[in-house]
Amino acid sequence: MTTHHRTTHHRTNRAAIDQWNTYPRAAMEAMEPEGDFAKRHLLNPVLFRLLGDVRGRRVLDAGCGQGYFSRLLADRGAHVTAVEPARALLDYAREKEAERRQGIRYVHAELGQPLAMEGEFDAVVCSMVLGTVPDWKPALRSCVRALRPGGLLVISLNHPAFEQLLSTWRTHGAYRIHRYLEEYEIPQTHAPDYHRPLSTYLNELAGLGCRLRELAEPGLSAAAARDAEPTTPGIESYTQLPNFAVIAASLE
Ligand SMILES: C[S@@+](CC[C@H](N)C(=O)[O-])C[C@H]1O[C@@H](n2cnc3c(N)ncnc32)[C@H](O)[C@@H]1O
Repeated sequence: MTTHHRTTHHRTNRAAIDQWNTYPRAAMEAMEPEGDFAKRHLLNPVLFRLLGDVRGRRVLDAGCGQGYFSRLLADRGAHVTAVEPARALLDYAREKEAERRQGIRYVHAELGQPLAMEGEFDAVVCSMVLGTVPDWKPALRSCVRALRPGGLLVISLNHPAFEQLLSTWRTHGAYRIHRYLEEYEIPQTHAPDYHRPLSTYLNELAGLGCRLRELAEPGLSAAAARDAEPTTPGIESYTQLPNFAVIAASLE
């Protein structure tokens, strides 16, 4: 029975953030230094390609989690500010900053509330965040408002057409989806995800005055799939279908 997952409005942003606060420390540490397999092979390369040369640029990592991407940005010479509402994740990120002293400014804030940093950034990256936020439109607005005119917003999402990629591929040897157009909550181990059609995000961006620069749908290389197959059956699906959608848009 799935009817109780059909709307996105029965949970508040606060309630979702409370669940992120239960994220285990071991899982945060497992993401060091460059994220999990999917991040290393699929997301990070395309995020950095879309962001371009970040040296000397002011970049906001919106919903930074344990902060691995903020640290990679700082390694590449960006002036990084990072926003995160879940204390457990923010504390971990701040601990790393105390150790590494990269000059990353961590701010405790929720994107659903207006940020006190409008027009400040050359680029905003919001990676794997909007799909976890129940009331996501104000969060997207905060990201856009943080940009200077002409600034670049890079968003990554679980690709809404291929969310259950590995599990359905393992079961059926092909991808299957039967609910794309409606919005619904997808329960996860730690905090829920939300399914929304891709057009929902793109049209909201257009309404906020952003121009689409690129929609990337990264696929896994055959070599990486071959290496991972013994431990991750069905991983060849990632060479055929995109598990992530990455949007680059500029503020006109
Ligand atoms: C899947 S994690 C991604 C974290 C990080 N961007 C990364 O790529 O590793 C989702 C993050 O979004 C954060 N988040 C959830 N609701 C939020 C909100 N309303 N405003 C800002 N961040 C939020 C969570 O606390 C969590 O850190």
